[in-house]
Amino acid sequence: MNAFLANLFRRVTTGVYVIGVGYGELRNAFTAAFVMQVSYDPLLLALGINPRHSSFGLLKQGGVFSVNVLKRDQLGLAAHFGGRASAAKLAHIAWTPGRTGVPLLPQCLAWFECEMAGEHPAGDHVLVLGKVIAGELVDAGAEALIYSDTGAMDGAVDLFPDDFGN
Ligand SMILES: Cc1cc2nc3c(=O)[nH]c(=O)nc-3n(C[C@H](O)[C@H](O)[C@H](O)COP(=O)(O)O)c2cc1C
Repeated sequence: MNAFLANLFRRVTTGVYVIGVGYGELRNAFTAAFVMQVSYDPLLLALGINPRHSSFGLLKQGGVFSVNVLKRDQLGLAAHFGGRASAAKLAHIAWTPGRTGVPLLPQCLAWFECEMAGEHPAGDHVLVLGKVIAGELVDAGAEALIYSDTGAMDGAVDLFPDDFGN
């Protein structure tokens, strides 16, 4: 438990996203803040994902993922998809399949659809590169939800090391 580091790293400003994955008939989605653009040509987004998430297996098998940008008033969606893994997370949420089948959330600010273009171990996470093959700005007037606005929702205070600075 390290409240200082959780508070400090909340100042690394990112948005909040729902990452959709799918393989065969299976679909899942989870909340992520470790997302950024890393290249113009080709168009690449990077995602840091904990390999223990149930979405990771589907991501590896399907080789595709979506990045749905949450709006400022969508804290409820962030909490829903950030909650414990369950097959039913998409059951009562409006979504449509992208061209690769990954879940796209039409109520979000924008979405991107990606094909996996590489991965690299990154400590307790895996850094996944996604080549963007489609995208849409759904609500140009909306403001994005910012990671620091989610407070302690992700439980990060329990994930940071105790021994920083020692
Ligand atoms: C605000 C917020 C941000 C999060 N960011 C990430 C992230 O960037 N990467 C990650 O692997 N998990 C992140 N999580 C945790 C996952 O969303 C959470 O563990 C989820 O239950 C995983 O779902 P799954 O097991 O169904 O794949 C975040 C959670 C919240 C609430």
